Amino acid sequence: FEVSWDAAAADKGGWSSFMAKEVAEEPDAVAKTVLGRVHDGQIVIPELDGMDELFQGVSRVIVLACGTAYYAGLVGKYALEQWARIPVDVELAHEFRYRDAIVGPDTLVVSISQSGETMDTLMAVKEAARLGAKTLSICNTQGATIPRESDAIVYTHAGPEVAVASTKAFVAQITALYLLALHVGRVRGALSAEVGVEAIEELEALPEKIQWILDNEQGRIEQLAHWMTDTRSVLFLGRHVGFPIALEGALKLKELSYIHAEGFAAGELKHGPIALIEPGQPVFVMVPSPRDGATLHSKVISNIEEIRARGARVIAVAEEGDAAVLPFADEVLRVPLAAPLFEPVLSVVPLHIFAMGLATAKGLDVDQPRNLAKSVTVE
Ligand code: G6P
Repeated sequence: FEVSWDAAAADKGGWSSFMAKEVAEEPDAVAKTVLGRVHDGQIVIPELDGMDELFQGVSRVIVLACGTAYYAGLVGKYALEQWARIPVDVELAHEFRYRDAIVGPDTLVVSISQSGETMDTLMAVKEAARLGAKTLSICNTQGATIPRESDAIVYTHAGPEVAVASTKAFVAQITALYLLALHVGRVRGALSAEVGVEAIEELEALPEKIQWILDNEQGRIEQLAHWMTDTRSVLFLGRHVGFPIALEGALKLKELSYIHAEGFAAGELKHGPIALIEPGQPVFVMVPSPRDGATLHSKVISNIEEIRARGARVIAVAEEGDAAVLPFADEVLRVPLAAPLFEPVLSVVPLHIFAMGLATAKGLDVDQPRNLAKSVTVE
């Protein structure tokens, strides 16, 4: 009788990889980030007490981040502009830092970083502060350098993330941006009580909806990934908040499975990417809800028709009950219903599962992809 004990396996809590564990923790990452920040039917972020005047006074927001955090920032732009009615630019930290940015005391710079140690993001925050901007850090690591260098901090509570490629921190970052947008929207008087209440209901329902995807779709998605092991290129299309998710889906697939992957805004198709479509080309399409306004939905359906006509193999990520998409897609991955701004937190989950599933099917190490580091602390 022999007892074997492996410290790394123990930390994984029985999961095959840290990433498998961290994807399974996505519902929790969202729930814990919201916890303690809903008071009397309103979003109140206690860490931001005393900052109302600052939020009322700023005239623009610049979001700075790298990698996956940058895509969370792109989603956050939609929420901040809609709920807080404040203009938002989202920039890669390393690009911001080396141009002559026009930033002043009326600018709020929001940095996003899981580790809080990414050198490019840190240096960009320092540069913004030097130029007179106010800085707020969204970070998953207590006491890390970027939050210490910032005027304000909103922590994500995803828990420690070990796998190099970020998953649960991403959904927590988007959640924190929703919270920030709702908080700032209320403080600036831009958000109606009714919209605020609806948003809180949506927020609080997210963890259960993510869990639904894990419980009902994970097996099918892994099977699909398995069938696609020999695929050499995958494209991702999205519109509106689906666009950053297309970018994130492509990034995760590159990082984990070393397959060529690119994300595009669906509206850009005819300006170039459609030239890439040849028979058999797999394309993931983020399909917006057919319920709200339906314009975005029908636009995306016509994008699907365009690529289908050229032989693309369409894998749609669509709302449960969206029957209109069925005739146009080869595969449909289902996500539960959510208001449009909240869709990204759900639609990214199948893409995380897919990237992890494909890398696993290829026998790759999903926790430590080649050439990558969890935290890039050099330029
Ligand atoms: C590295 C990681 C990515 C992460 C990025 C930004 O490239 O591999 O997963 O998104 O850094 O990291 P941060 O800690 O600043 O969020």
